[in-house]
Amino acid sequence: MSTVADALQALTDLTPNREQVLADALEGLQSTPRRLPSKYFYDARGSQLFEQITRTPEYYPTRTELALLQNCLPDVARRVGPNAHVVELGSGSGRKTALLLAALQSPVAYTPIEISRAALLSSIERLAPALPQVQMLPVCADFTRPVQVPEPEQAASRRLLFFPGSTLGNFAEEEAVALLQAMRSTMGEDGLALVGIDLHKDTAMIEAAYNDAAGITAAFTLNLLERLNREIGADFDLQGFRHQARYSRERLRIETDLVSQHEQVVHVDGKPFHFATNEPIRVEYSHKYTDDSFDALLQRSGLQVAASWNAPHPAFGLRLLRAR
Ligand code: TRP
Repeated sequence: MSTVADALQALTDLTPNREQVLADALEGLQSTPRRLPSKYFYDARGSQLFEQITRTPEYYPTRTELALLQNCLPDVARRVGPNAHVVELGSGSGRKTALLLAALQSPVAYTPIEISRAALLSSIERLAPALPQVQMLPVCADFTRPVQVPEPEQAASRRLLFFPGSTLGNFAEEEAVALLQAMRSTMGEDGLALVGIDLHKDTAMIEAAYNDAAGITAAFTLNLLERLNREIGADFDLQGFRHQARYSRERLRIETDLVSQHEQVVHVDGKPFHFATNEPIRVEYSHKYTDDSFDALLQRSGLQVAASWNAPHPAFGLRLLRAR
C-alpha cells in the first residue's frame, strides 16, 4: 500500500536550475542558425498548454495513440508479464500511463521522469490513489541526462520503459540514437520499451496538427520566450516573434521556428543578440517515421522490434522494443 505522501517522500528532484537554463539558452542563441532547446517548453504553463494542444481537433497524435493503446494493451501485458517496474520518459499528465498500469499484471513500481515539477506532482496526485499497489518513485529531471532509476522495495521481474507521444521524434537523429542507446542500457538485457511513433502521412494533416486554428500551439511555443524572460531575465518582445511550423517531406519532420518579425536586438544576461527580419530560431523537430527510417535508428541503437501495432488513419505506431 502506497500513498501520495509516500510518493512525495520518494521524489528525486533534479529540476534544471537557472544556470543550466541560461547556459543552454546562450549556447543556442550564439549558434548559426539559432536554436533553443525544446525541453524548456515544459514549465508549469507550457505543460498546461501542451495538454490543451492534445485536445485540439487538429492534433491527431494523442487521441490516435490512446485508441491504439486501448487495443494493444492486452497483448503488451501478455508480453511484459507480471511484476514489472514501469519507467516513463516525459510523463506529462500521465493519461496514457493510467491505461498502461491498469492493463499490466501487478506492476511493482512506476517511475515517471518529467522535467516539469508541476506536471509531475499533479500526475502523481491522480495516479497514486488509483493504484495503491504500485510504488510511485517519481523523478523530476531532464530525461536526456543520465538519471539513476530508483529501486523499488519489491524486486521487479524486469523494467518496461514507456516513451509515448512520439517524443522520440523531437530529437535530431544523432540525439535520438544516443537516447535509444541510453534506454537500452537503462532497461537492461531482458527489459522492454514501449515507444509511440507518429508516421509519415499527408502534409496538410501533419501541418494542421502543429498550427491549430485556435492558436494554442503558437501560445505554447511563444511561452518558451516568456519563460526565458521570467527565469533568466531575457527581454524578448513576444509580439516581435511568430510561430511557424512546416513539414519537410524530404527530411520527414515538422520544423518549428519562432521567426523574428522585424529587425531587433534581444538581451540575454546582458549580451545583445541581433535579429534580422524573418530570422528564425529553431525550437523543435517532430520527426515522422517510415518503417525504414525507424529501423535505421534501431540498427544504430542495439535495439529490435519485438512487436508492432499501427493505427491506419491517421497513421500512428506503437513498437515494443528489446535489446538486439
Ligand atoms: N511530442 C509532441 C510532438 O512532436 C510535442 C509537440 C506537439 C510540439 N505540438 C508541438 C512541440 C508544437 C513543439 C511545437 O507532436
